[in-house]
Amino acid sequence: MTAVSRISNQPLAHQWMPFTANRAFQDAPRLIARAEGVYYFNPQGEKLLDGSSGLYCIPLGHGRREIREAVTRQMEVLDYAPPFQYGVPAAFQLAQELAEMLPNGLNRILFTGSGSESVDSALKIAIQYHRVRGEGQRQRFIGRERGYHGVNFGGWSVGGMVNNRKAFGLGLPGVSHLRHTVIPENKFVMGQGEHGAELADDLQRLVDLHGADSIAACIVEPIAGSTGILVPPKGYLERLREICTRHGILLIFDEVITGFGRTGQAFAADTFGVVPDIMTLAKAISNGSIPMAAVAVREDVQQTILDAAPPENVEFFHGYTYSAHPVACAAALATLKIFREEDTFARVRALTPAFLEQIGGFKDLPYVTDTRGFGLLGAVELAPEGKPGARGYKILCKAFEAGLVLRAAGDTIVLAPPFAATAEEIARMVEIMRAVITAN
Ligand SMILES: Cc1ncc(COP(=O)(O)O)c(C=O)c1O
Repeated sequence: MTAVSRISNQPLAHQWMPFTANRAFQDAPRLIARAEGVYYFNPQGEKLLDGSSGLYCIPLGHGRREIREAVTRQMEVLDYAPPFQYGVPAAFQLAQELAEMLPNGLNRILFTGSGSESVDSALKIAIQYHRVRGEGQRQRFIGRERGYHGVNFGGWSVGGMVNNRKAFGLGLPGVSHLRHTVIPENKFVMGQGEHGAELADDLQRLVDLHGADSIAACIVEPIAGSTGILVPPKGYLERLREICTRHGILLIFDEVITGFGRTGQAFAADTFGVVPDIMTLAKAISNGSIPMAAVAVREDVQQTILDAAPPENVEFFHGYTYSAHPVACAAALATLKIFREEDTFARVRALTPAFLEQIGGFKDLPYVTDTRGFGLLGAVELAPEGKPGARGYKILCKAFEAGLVLRAAGDTIVLAPPFAATAEEIARMVEIMRAVITAN
């Protein structure tokens, strides 16, 4: 029998890294060994600024003592209990606190473990809601070009990020997409552009084409994050809301990035004054410490589903082993407490004007083709150099060498500083980013 070598002599080859150029990484790894506050440290102990709040998920900075202690306490008391047909106190408390924090009416909370799980859960809730009301023919979903709703089959099908779609086949049937909202008239506008509210009428066109009675839900990110911070034009979200309401279509806001303060209020729904029927949440809910995510549902939508089944029956055949994980709930409760006690979102509002001005200042660099931003989300779009995305990737690598971790969405460079950063630390992030873009 031939001997099989089970262990490769390339130690980095065993981890198949997500959303990563694996082979390039193995040749030139970017390792992060430790973090504290708004800084990472590489294995050599050199400091790097965290310019992306982890992956938009660590707004309070790394290593918050209160969260660590809450997690440890919960581990000591109850490490796990099955979430199906049993409940843990921390999950009910967390659901109540979220319900109090969310816009009126969004007060029924289903826990999941990631943004992708929340999105697929939300889509299933929409289908079942219509079905139990005798409108089972409402099965279509409307997403948007350049939207990102995670990587599960529902999420990528309604998403509109080309690279996340093209390798995986057909996806869900019956999905249509609105056009995205980046238009030349709003170039270099920081905040909401004056033009483009009428792009929401794409939804009306799809209603006219397919019939409202075939459409279950429309899902959008209030600000599309992963394709480079696409801020909704003034009036756009309002118009989507009107069209959904008029035609009985559920409006789902994917607030996985915008939720918990990124726009200066608890949720983008508050900031923009538009309330969806279902909202997906993840990322900042537990300050990145333990995977945790949620779907917030309008009370009557959930109640309709509950009422459709006899009381002893499971009403919604859906859930995850790690839904409402007690340790994740403890981490989230500690996070929400800090948000309240430190008035964290007011801090975001205070830091925002200077940050957006600094990002807007990239306009004067030679190959910058657009700047966009809202709250503590800022994007600088660069002209491609050769293959699309190559320049963005180069900037990401060079920024790491210069002591800054940031996001590259194709050729758009994104800064999303932790809310815990000082104005000086944010200015330093911008300065490093500017130096790297200028030199490359
Ligand atoms: C808007 C939005 N939805 C969903 C997701 C997916 O979340 P996760 O990576 O936790 O599955 C993301 C992740 O970036 C996101 O930005």
